[in-house]
Amino acid sequence: MPLVTVDEKTMDVAAGTRLTIAIERAGVEIGHRCGGKARCTTCRVVVHEGEPSDMTRAEFVRLREAGLLGSHRLSCQLVVEGDMRLSSVMTKQNQEWLDTGPQLDPDVKPEPDRFDRATLEAEHPG
Ligand code: FES
Repeated sequence: MPLVTVDEKTMDVAAGTRLTIAIERAGVEIGHRCGGKARCTTCRVVVHEGEPSDMTRAEFVRLREAGLLGSHRLSCQLVVEGDMRLSSVMTKQNQEWLDTGPQLDPDVKPEPDRFDRATLEAEHPG
């Protein structure tokens, strides 16, 4: 099983697990304020090792709108495929939220089609 290390906490995660859910299982109360629909960016992470090269169209568009493309990934749009090491950014504790957000569906929403970044940049110039 892949090993996921988030904020120095490491755990085995079944391949195919939505990354936000894996992070929560590791005990990190990461935000997912839009319910995992690629709208809020509170689930953003910095991936130090094991970053997937492809991404969903929804993740690409939202990261670019937020000025986060190239520096962050949206954990709600990723599934664990191999070992990863990453840092959370917005948590219940550091944002002083009462909760992290609506419960997440185990499947990536809104649309799990994945593309390489060059394809997405060609589709969405500028
Ligand atoms: S949970 Fe809102 S963008 Fe990921």
